[in-house]
Amino acid sequence: MEQIAQGAEAVIYKDNDTIIKERFSKNYRLPQIDISLRQFRTRREAKVLTKLEEIDFPAPHLRDFCDKRMSIIMDFVPGEKLRDVLLAGDEYQKLAQEVGEKVAKLHSANIVHGDLTTSNMIVHQETRELNIIDFGLSFFSERVEDKAVDLFLMDRALESKHYQLYPKLFENVLEGYKAEYPQASEVLKRFEEVRLRGRNKNK
Ligand SMILES: Nc1ncnc2c1ncn2[C@@H]1O[C@H](COP(=O)(O)OP(=O)(O)O)[C@@H](O)[C@H]1O
Ligand SMILES: [Mg+2]
Repeated sequence: MEQIAQGAEAVIYKDNDTIIKERFSKNYRLPQIDISLRQFRTRREAKVLTKLEEIDFPAPHLRDFCDKRMSIIMDFVPGEKLRDVLLAGDEYQKLAQEVGEKVAKLHSANIVHGDLTTSNMIVHQETRELNIIDFGLSFFSERVEDKAVDLFLMDRALESKHYQLYPKLFENVLEGYKAEYPQASEVLKRFEEVRLRGRNKNK
C-alpha cells in the first residue's frame, strides 16, 4: 500500500486496484465537531457513490466505508487527471463538452458535486470516458440555485487553472451541459445571476 496523494482533508492510499481515502482530523477544530464533520463527509461520499453506481454514472465503484476510521474504499480509476491532459495542450473541445455532459447527468440526478475542478476528473485509460471523483462535498438537491453555484465554482476553477483556454473552455462545457440537460436554460439563467452577484461583491 502506498500513499499517492494528500489533500486538504484526506490521505489517499493505493493498494493494487483499490483506493483508500482516509479523512484525517484537524487540530484547529473542536474534537466533537471534527469527528462529526469527518463522519458526515465520509457517509455522504459513500452515499453519493452508491447512487452514482445505480444510475450507471462513471465514478469509482464503492467497495466499503467505515465511519469510525473515516475511510472509504473504492476502485482505482486508471488514467490521467483532466487537469494534466488540458495542461499538456491536447485537443480540448471534445473533452470540455464531455465535462458539461457529465455535470448535466449529475444535476439531472439532483446531485451537486461541490468541487468541480479538473483535478477531480480522470480520463479513463481504457474506456477514455471522463470519470468524476471526490464527492466529499457533494449533496443531493433539486434547487436551481445549488446547481447554478456548482457551475459558477467550476467556471472560477477553470479560469484560474486553465486561463490559456479560457473562456472557450467553459463555453464548450456549457454546450455539453445544454445538450444533455433539459432544464439547462433555467440553471444557466440563474448562473448569470450568481455571476452578477459575485461581481457586485468584489467591487
Ligand atoms: N478512485 C480514484 N482513482 C484514482 N485516483 C484517485 C481516486 N480517488 C482519489 N484519487 C487521486 O487522489 C487525489 C485526491 O483525492 P480526492 O478524492 O480528490 O481528495 P481531496 O479531497 O484530497 O481532493 C485525486 O486528485 C486523484 O489523483
Ligand atoms: Mg480532489
